[in-house]
Formats: sequence, C-alpha cells, structure tokens
Amino acid sequence: MSNTLSRRQMLRRGALLAGGLPFAAGLLDQAQAAPNGHLPPSREVTGIADITGTGELMAPAYSEKGIALRAPAELKARLFANENPFGPSERAKTAILNALPTSYQYPFMHIRDLVKMLADHDGLAPENYMMAAGSSCLLSAAALCFSKPGGNIISGDPSYEDLPTRATLVNEKWIKVPVTSEYKLDLDAMEKAIDGNTGLVYICNPNNPTATVLDADKLRAFCERVSKRVTVFVDEAYIDYLDDPAGMSMMSSVKAGQNIIVARTFSKVYGFAGLRVGYVAAQPSMITRLGAYNEGMISLSAPSVMAALASFQDKDYMRGVLEKTTASKSFLYETLKKEGYDYIPSSANFVLFPIKMEGKHFTDEMMKRGVGVRFWKFNNKEWCRVSIGRMDEMEAFAAAFKELS
Ligand SMILES: Cc1ncc(COP(=O)(O)O)c(C=O)c1O
Repeated sequence: MSNTLSRRQMLRRGALLAGGLPFAAGLLDQAQAAPNGHLPPSREVTGIADITGTGELMAPAYSEKGIALRAPAELKARLFANENPFGPSERAKTAILNALPTSYQYPFMHIRDLVKMLADHDGLAPENYMMAAGSSCLLSAAALCFSKPGGNIISGDPSYEDLPTRATLVNEKWIKVPVTSEYKLDLDAMEKAIDGNTGLVYICNPNNPTATVLDADKLRAFCERVSKRVTVFVDEAYIDYLDDPAGMSMMSSVKAGQNIIVARTFSKVYGFAGLRVGYVAAQPSMITRLGAYNEGMISLSAPSVMAALASFQDKDYMRGVLEKTTASKSFLYETLKKEGYDYIPSSANFVLFPIKMEGKHFTDEMMKRGVGVRFWKFNNKEWCRVSIGRMDEMEAFAAAFKELS
C-alpha cells in the first residue's frame, strides 16, 4: 500500500515537473507579479482550461512583463521594472562588438573566465558557482529543488515573489511572514515559522519592493543558525547599491561552508537586464544539486558573458551609475515631500511609497501620462513602487504625479 502511495506521489510530482511547468509559466507571470501576492481570482489554478490561451504575450497588465507589453512606444519614463537606464557601460558595449565575430562558438571558455573572476573577487572557488541567463533561472531551479508535496517555503511579505511562487507549483504551503514596522524582513518571525516541512527560507536583501536592508551581523548570525536546520537562499540582486556590498553580502557565509545559496545578477547596477547574466554561489555539492534543475552555462550568450567580464572590472562606470542613481533618488524624495507623501527610505534603485488612491487606477492614470510604475497592496494600504530612472524620467514622473496628487 505504502509503495503504491509513494509511486502515486512520485507520479504527481513527475507530472508537475514534466507536464505542469509549460502551463505553469503563464500562471507564474501572473502570480509573481500579483500586487497582493496571490493569483487573481479569475486565474486561480482550477485546471488547464484556465491556463491555456494565456500565451506569454498575454501577461497580466499589472506585471512588469504585462506593463512592458502594453506600454505605448512613446513612454516618457520606464519606471516599473527596476532596470538601470545608465547601463550597460561603454566597455560592455565594446566587448559585445568584439565578441560578435566568434559568437558562432559556444560560450564555455568565456564563462570559465567570468567564474574565475567572480571566485577571485569573492574569495571562493570556481566550484562554488553556477551561471545562468539571469538569476531568475536560478531562483526557479532552487524553488523546484527544495519543494515537495506537503512541503513549505518561507518568505517575507511583501518580498520578491518569483522563487516562492514557483515553489508553490510543487509545495503545499507558502508561509508569508509580514515585514516589521520598519518594513524590514522579520528574521526572528521567519525563524520561528520554520517547521519539519520547510524546504527553503528565502531572504531578499535589499528587499524588493520595500528597498530596505537588513543589519549584516544579524543576518549573518541568522544564516549561521538557520542553515543548520534548512537551506537559506539570499537574493542579493540589489546589493551593489549599498555603500559596502562586500561587507553586507552573505558570500562570507558561503565561504564559511554554510548551507546558504547567494544569488546575484548583472541586471541591476551593471544594466544587463536585456543581456541576461546571473549566478549563484553555494557549496559545490549544492551547485551539483541545483544543476539538475537548470540549463546552466548553455543558456548564456557569449557576447553577454564578454560584456560581463568587461563591466565587472569597470569601477569608474559603477561609481557613475551610483552617483546618477543617488541624484535621481534625491529628486524623487523631494518631489514626494513637496506633494505631502511619505516614503520608505530606499537602499536600492527603487522607492516604495503609500498612495492616496486605488493602485490600479493610479498606475493606469500615470501610464496615460506616459509614466510606467507599479502598485502594491499590503498593511491595508495602496503603494506605488517607482524605479529610479534618468533625471528626465524622474521629471516626467514628477509632472504626472503632480497632476494626480
Ligand atoms: C529581487 C530580485 N531577484 C531577482 C531578479 C531577477 O533578475 P534577473 O533574472 O534579471 O537576473 C529580480 C528582478 O527584478 C529581483 O528584483
């Protein structure tokens, strides 16, 4: 009997992994983008009929993809996807051009060089790394690797929903732990929420969408303790916006041999969202485990890898991006203050602030004025998340916002 059951369970899991995922992709777009963290009622997973017909180009209007696909060609300000409009660097662009003649070759040698550079920088070994075309692929790999029927995953609320949403395709539960009164991830409550079925604790630091950052010593102590019980995934997509990224990073916990996965992306400070380069660092045995759920090296394009190699060493470029981001952010803070709005002080390239009207209405009205932003709903409030753009984009935001506030 128990053999039959476990075979059935295996089949269910197999079906989810093999057959379920192509259908699930459309659902994921909706769920990870959903402003309240749930699938919209009309799109609840009730069966394949709900899913078919939702082609990739039909992503829901409030998701980043959906906003981009519906945006007018003449958008004045593209402030809905936390991209970096100051990138990629000149060196990256030159590297791409130089890489074109040999781009008939597979990218493996360049990836080996990039991994070596990252490993030397982080004080780790090449065996500690796995690369992919953006960190999303690796978030997804971890979600599947650590999910099982009856299992659960723990994340903050609100936080980046990509990984936990995908985990929900296999897991039974997603335990959402509300952020503290300072809008930071509540590490103590997250630790308390762990039970025997927890597969992974997901920490986004700095956190998207609140743009808050955790105290590094507190997070390091959390990682040390919690990783003895369960794998901790630390998503550091926005870490480069902090004053001391190396000091704030949990790469040190990987170095200490702990059961931690750290995810990084070139999509943000390096301006590679369209070039697609990301990676994780973890223990070599974990890299092997994750490899079963990820395409790995073959998904990367050689010109993008060459561009990443050129960008990573370009400290002047990075300083320039950070200065321009700070100037645009200060302008945004001033605009919000002048209009009588509060905001959560930001440690990243986006700002979250409470709005005084329904979120969808607000974002629709902003879009009518050529400004793309996103909305959230939590703590019984409506919120706008605005990405930090060029100064002309922030001015366009200010002009549209004044008309609505
Ligand atoms: C917290 C966080 N992690 C990961 C990603 C995915 O980045 P990418 O797949 O471009 O590397 C994003 C994208 O916005 C993000 O906000």
